[in-house]
Amino acid sequence: FSFKRPSNEMPNDFKVNSVERKELKFKLEEYSKKVIEIPLIINGKEVRTGDMGEVRMPHNHKHILANYHKAGEKEISMAVEASREAKKEWENMPWQMRALVFKKAAALIAGPYRQVMNAVTMLGQSKNAYQAEIEAVCELVDFFEFNTHYISKMYKEQPDSTRTVINQLDYRPLEGFVFAVTPFNFTAIGGNLPSAPAMVGNTVVWKPALTAVYSNYFVMKILQEAGLPSGVINFIPGDGAKVADVVLKKDDLAGIHFTGSTTVFNSMWKKVAQNLEKYKTYPKIVGETGGKDFVVVHPSADNNEVVTGLIRGAYEYQGQKCSAASRAYIPESKWAEIKNSLIKEVKNIKVGPVEEFSNFVNAVIDQKAFDKIENYIDYARKSPEAEIIAGGTCDDTKGYFISPTLILTENPKFKTMVEEIFGPVLTIFVYPDDEFEQTLKLVNETSPYGLTGSIFAKDRQAQLKAIKELRQAAGNFYVNDKPTTAIVGQQPFGGARASGTNDKAGAEQNLSRWISPRVVKETL
Ligand code: SER
Repeated sequence: FSFKRPSNEMPNDFKVNSVERKELKFKLEEYSKKVIEIPLIINGKEVRTGDMGEVRMPHNHKHILANYHKAGEKEISMAVEASREAKKEWENMPWQMRALVFKKAAALIAGPYRQVMNAVTMLGQSKNAYQAEIEAVCELVDFFEFNTHYISKMYKEQPDSTRTVINQLDYRPLEGFVFAVTPFNFTAIGGNLPSAPAMVGNTVVWKPALTAVYSNYFVMKILQEAGLPSGVINFIPGDGAKVADVVLKKDDLAGIHFTGSTTVFNSMWKKVAQNLEKYKTYPKIVGETGGKDFVVVHPSADNNEVVTGLIRGAYEYQGQKCSAASRAYIPESKWAEIKNSLIKEVKNIKVGPVEEFSNFVNAVIDQKAFDKIENYIDYARKSPEAEIIAGGTCDDTKGYFISPTLILTENPKFKTMVEEIFGPVLTIFVYPDDEFEQTLKLVNETSPYGLTGSIFAKDRQAQLKAIKELRQAAGNFYVNDKPTTAIVGQQPFGGARASGTNDKAGAEQNLSRWISPRVVKETL
């Protein structure tokens, strides 16, 4: 049997007095009150190392949510060994049986664990209820559902045969294990990166971001409850460089599924190169990294759409999305009006902890992120080339709060127009109306990234020009919309250049990277 195309999981809007809101509030309270212990999970068993780390709430950093165990060299090797052992059965299981594990996990997340997933993502990653719901629930459920559907489609594809020659395509998994390294900003990516290779018969060593280990542990537990056999995914929180050093030296490393910074991704390629002679097969390296995502406004654009797109694109989840709008190009004739509306909107944004649902902006993830973002804001404040026109307040006394910040610059290559900040900071460059085409060139040449971007225009010719001129500038390009919130099954997500290998998350392109096909020709 195969799996039909699913429909997207619809997010809840947590209306005041709704059952969902009450249940979520209850879960937030329940999980705030306890401090849980997070072990490693290797070969289906909990492993405790005693080398501990703490999970604290970013919006209230004195509050500890969990203590987690960190993997040492021994446990990292145990995880690789467990994945080796588990592969023997897992890869030979009928694929529908493998897929059912993830379909069951999707049902558990969409149903009984829905508000648990939201609560732990909100508390541990400082994400508001709406931002948690669209990804820790809906996107993760979509990843599981759509990927199982894509696999059933993919496996049906067979080459032509004749009366005397039968050709068979054998969808082998990779020969070895896959190393999944996942980020803090999306619980859904944490769930998807180990699961996509596993669905097609691979086994996985999963190193979650330590700043998301709290929600990611719940994903792991749900996968186990859904029937994931021991050793298929091994969950090993730990120091990133240390885990990577040990894992990337293993001779049966067959793939890397990564989302995180460009710097870390580059260091993984280099480590792979250093160990190349050791490997039995060339590892497939799939990664999604940073972005310096743009919004270009044409003189024909609708100002209200632009302002909404900029506010939501730049500041949802504190700008900590690789897709976040972080540089905007606005025509002179529109600037005065857009500026007024933007400043008004920014001033109205409520900043604060996640427990208060009306707070649109919460805390950034940790002290390191806070310091980095604050440095960029300070740089702009001191520079004669820039002006902070809204926000710019940073306060880490209770939580890592940074107010949504608008920077205006006359230099289109100003530092904050070029470098990824990963925080609630949007830089604006105002261009002369008759230089739309030059501006498109500028957009294309300004940053090394190629992830997302938008054009706001009512003029059809302007839209088409931007689609054409910015062909390589973004892997996900939007017309009259913010450059964030790609939906699985609708806008497969990923970009090239310094933004990664563009193997679109939640799509057949991605799943095919975890397969090493064999063709069997039988002459009758
Ligand atoms: N897929 C997310 C978005 O589109 C980013 O990872 O915003």
